[in-house]
Amino acid sequence: MGAGIAQVSAAAGYRVILSDVSVERAEAGKAGIAKLLARAVEKEKIDAATRDATLDRIEAVGDVAAMAPCGLVIEAATEREEIKRAIFGNVGKVLRPDAILASNTSSIPITRLAQATPDPARFIGVHFFNPVPVMGLIEVIRGLATSDATVGVIKDYAERLGKAVVRANDAPGFSVNRVLMPMINEAIFALGEGVATIRDIDLACQLGLNHPMGPLTLADFIGLDTCLEITRVLFEGTGDPKFRPAPLLVKYVEAGWYGRKTGRGFYDYSGPQPEPTR
Ligand code: 3HC
Repeated sequence: MGAGIAQVSAAAGYRVILSDVSVERAEAGKAGIAKLLARAVEKEKIDAATRDATLDRIEAVGDVAAMAPCGLVIEAATEREEIKRAIFGNVGKVLRPDAILASNTSSIPITRLAQATPDPARFIGVHFFNPVPVMGLIEVIRGLATSDATVGVIKDYAERLGKAVVRANDAPGFSVNRVLMPMINEAIFALGEGVATIRDIDLACQLGLNHPMGPLTLADFIGLDTCLEITRVLFEGTGDPKFRPAPLLVKYVEAGWYGRKTGRGFYDYSGPQPEPTR
């Protein structure tokens, strides 16, 4: 997702420093962006000069120390709080005194994460959606201490990216995942209880509700590990049993079947077309 954020930011004219756990991983992220931009040139959506200028604005690095000149730093690491906290600690050592730090967390409370940042007034939740270049929304979440000035900067940034903004309170799952994850979780309960097959649950939502992807396809697309993490945040954050994770979701994650990224989830991605696994 970080690569997607880097791509849309560079396309909007920002200079971007793309950092990952190693410079090789960051370079791989940039190579993925180059591929998507090449496809956009083939489809005549952009010209070659725009592709080159966009790529030239992105520098891939393997260390957050390189973020020292940035005015806005957006963290998009794995949805694990300890990892995000460690990143904020490291970025905090080099962050400009006027820079804003944002997290693309999909569900971890912003007010709590803010405690690991140098200045909670300049910390905010900026939640993008996958695939970032296609999806038109940014969900903005302010923590208890987030300043109006910080919100204003993010609004301007979203506008420059051409994305709509919705604001959500710092409640578990914010707005989108509060609605989306129970739907995905319920689809997995339905599958586990034998209500319908994987194919039929997905087709029902695609054709019966006009969803671009059925909930099980979408779960594989997001990553079943991420779906479980977010569902647990909803369950633990609200204490409401209606959010308890479906046992089948837990089993798939325990099996290492995370969806597209591991080649298997509710579908098997090893062949030319995804095939339902049950
Ligand atoms: N990156 C960039 N562009 C992509 C892309 C990607 N990974 N995947 C598809 N696209 C582009 C294609 O190039 C194409 O562009 P064009 O119209 O300009 O030619 C366009 O998207 C449509 O792609 P396709 O024709 O290949 O395929 P579809 O029409 O099936 O669309 C989809 C693919 C856009 C992914 C669509 O299925 C969809 O909208 N799915 C739902 C996605 C969704 O719900 N995302 C939110 C997930 S929740 C989340 O991210 C939050 C987190 O906290 C969990």
